[in-house]
Amino acid sequence: MKSSPWWKEATIYQIYPRSFFDSNGDGEGDLPGITSKLEYVKSLGVDAIWLSPFYTSPNKDGGYDVADPRDVDPRFGNLADAKEMIDVAHSLDLRVLVDVVPNHFSDQHVWFQEALKAARGSQERSRFHFYDANPDGTLPNNWISLFGGPSWTQVEDGQFYLHLFDSSQPDLNWENPEVAADFEKTLRFWLDLGVDGFRIDVAHGLVKEDVLKDHPDPQGLSDALRLDMPMDPEKRYALLPTVPFFDRQGVHEIYREWRKLFDSYGDRDVMAVAEAWVHPPVNSTRYVRPDELHQVFNFDLLDAPFSSIHLYDVISRSIDLMKSVAALPTWALSNHDSPRVATRMGEQESRALALFVLALPGSTYVYAGQELGLPDGVIPDESRQDPIYFRTGGQQKGRDGARVPLPWNGDTAPFGFTSGTPWLPMHDGWKDSTIEKQSAEPKSSLNLYRNALSLRAEHLVNNGKIQWLESPHHGAHSSSVLAYHRGSVSVYMNLENSPVEVEITGKVLIVSAGVPDGRDGKITIPPISTIWIQR
Ligand code: NOJ
Repeated sequence: MKSSPWWKEATIYQIYPRSFFDSNGDGEGDLPGITSKLEYVKSLGVDAIWLSPFYTSPNKDGGYDVADPRDVDPRFGNLADAKEMIDVAHSLDLRVLVDVVPNHFSDQHVWFQEALKAARGSQERSRFHFYDANPDGTLPNNWISLFGGPSWTQVEDGQFYLHLFDSSQPDLNWENPEVAADFEKTLRFWLDLGVDGFRIDVAHGLVKEDVLKDHPDPQGLSDALRLDMPMDPEKRYALLPTVPFFDRQGVHEIYREWRKLFDSYGDRDVMAVAEAWVHPPVNSTRYVRPDELHQVFNFDLLDAPFSSIHLYDVISRSIDLMKSVAALPTWALSNHDSPRVATRMGEQESRALALFVLALPGSTYVYAGQELGLPDGVIPDESRQDPIYFRTGGQQKGRDGARVPLPWNGDTAPFGFTSGTPWLPMHDGWKDSTIEKQSAEPKSSLNLYRNALSLRAEHLVNNGKIQWLESPHHGAHSSSVLAYHRGSVSVYMNLENSPVEVEITGKVLIVSAGVPDGRDGKITIPPISTIWIQR
């Protein structure tokens, strides 16, 4: 069953276009490649796809440096290919979300090129954040870019421009009404081409205040804001609420206007999800108030340890927080910015957690390759592409490991992804992880996802809230088992490396690993596994 509206309890499959499927042998995935594999996507049982950017871009930050937001970069195809991809997706009953990147443009965007030629104080410069140096010659403030190094770059006449990310990604000034007008044009452009909604990049960053104020620990803050950077959680969560450039009140005015635009498309059920990692977590609820956006990403599971107490805390908190604004949570275990879940936790742990999460209320985002249980790729330094690697002088490795292309078939790299040389190296070690091999193996990760998504649609979607199950043997305070009940299904996750027996009867719908043993009103749950039981 599908939820109503469609996005409420949807499973949304994230495609990183460069890494999905290459149709023309240039080593990079493209839109016709995606279109040709939509049957595969459909076979997973997902409701929608979200595509990371494929717009005109010099590709300094994997396309999140947009030079023309209303055109397709030739490396991915053209606008006709985009239209074809959307139409084919719709013919398969898959919705399509695309990225919109409103915090910054590429330095190759015509506006920034005009700003470089224009004088200080000009209308052209006012579309970005240009400032003079301090009287002593120092930078306008001490902020460190999220990709390392200063957040400011100097132009020929001595002024500096602000960039929270790479120097090729100048931040836009949303106080200039031309910026809002241009983004409304972009949103309409893609909606008119047929997309069903947007993932909003750095949704909490658009409005800048206190631009000239220094931060007491700018390097610590920059590290804390990156999920690929390991950090003591106490330190991270103490720093995060101090971010001076995110989550200002003004961003909500922007989304109220966008919501009116989305609603003007009437029964198209257009939706938008905010990438907004904000602190304290309660602030995330503001993005999904009834007159704002439809969903906000939940980052809690992207750095969560495999610990029952931690998982209980973040899952119950997310559900409760969203309830306060009558919204449902979203869940994600991996994305293109963080180490893949199988690498972070281990293969069996990641399967158990995926099955645990797929029964929860709300929407789940699955990052392409996650369904295969892929680990991060091993990237030699000379092959790295992420600006983080270059801006930190190689000290931080960046996010390329999570972006290695998908292995489709065959026994040797590049596993059918391309007939050329893949843009990131692939290794023969993935030969048992291909889609071809896993399709034929009943107990593969791929078939676990397929079966779970089909059972989710049959037994869980539209079945309301969960009830945590507690007893001396399992529950919120047990380190070995975490369990809840939803609709007619009880979900048990055994986090220990040994089997656990629980007192329950019913039909085993699915298990993430091993073979459960049921007798005398008890079921033995295999080590590190999750089980769904229909009661
Ligand atoms: C978040 C995106 O997911 C990431 O890939 C990108 O580098 C930054 N925003 C900047 O756009």
